[in-house]
Amino acid sequence: MGLFRKRGNTAGQVDMSRLPRHIAIIMDGNGRWAKKRGLPRTAGHKVGAETFRDIATYCRELGVEYLTVYAFSTENWKRPKDEVDTIMELLEQYLQEAINTMERDHIRLKILGDTAALSPKLQQMVAQTNAISTHYQGFQANICLNYGGRSEILRAARLCAEAGEEWTEENFGKYLWSAGIPDPELIIRPSGELRLSNFLLWQCAYSEFYFCDTLWPDFDRAALDRAIIDYQGRDRRFGGVKS
Ligand code: IPE
Ligand code: IPE
Ligand code: MG
Repeated sequence: MGLFRKRGNTAGQVDMSRLPRHIAIIMDGNGRWAKKRGLPRTAGHKVGAETFRDIATYCRELGVEYLTVYAFSTENWKRPKDEVDTIMELLEQYLQEAINTMERDHIRLKILGDTAALSPKLQQMVAQTNAISTHYQGFQANICLNYGGRSEILRAARLCAEAGEEWTEENFGKYLWSAGIPDPELIIRPSGELRLSNFLLWQCAYSEFYFCDTLWPDFDRAALDRAIIDYQGRDRRFGGVKS
């Protein structure tokens, strides 16, 4: 792959030498995508799961090291039971597939969130994917599942206090679900909503945000290229001044 990569309908080129190491995505808009087509919301989640598979593959092909996606928030339990059940079934299917392919492709998959509230079957799959992941060093996908930024911070605070550790940012970070994962340089939210909805509240301190109107099931490789190109045009100062 050359230094620049250009896709059909993208204005500009992705600079392959300045890729974000870690991209995080709030996979939003599945319900509206289905509604527009007169389909049940669950149909949107099914197509959204396919989009995730393709975008994860594309990130890996590009050379992005970490992809973190928001799949189910601590607030999403408020939804109708049949919708929650469908999302959990899709996650089971995905994890089963991942368990079968992780060893072949040497990929790592981590679940971030309070997994104790999940079904025993999902919990067992989460344990299995975590165990396989420790064998590899390559691309890592993180799925935020029953995840909330506030509960992550509270939990880390409790664990840090219990361990009697000094309260430094570094020590604190060891108790987050994201321990060991660098902060995302780029956070993408499709579907037109301009909020974080409790996603990566600690980790986003210096992330660049990219919002677009595309609904998640329609989000494709060209849409990811556009987000990366936009990110590459940003001036990241981290509180300093440009030399
Ligand atoms: C995101 O799509 C998926 C989950 C939150 C599980 P939504 O289901 O929130 O879709 P919209 O926002 O209602 O369109
Ligand atoms: C955020 O989307 C959670 C996920 C994408 C998993 P929501 O659709 O739940 O967020 P709100 O309700 O629009 O803030
Ligand atoms: Mg939504």
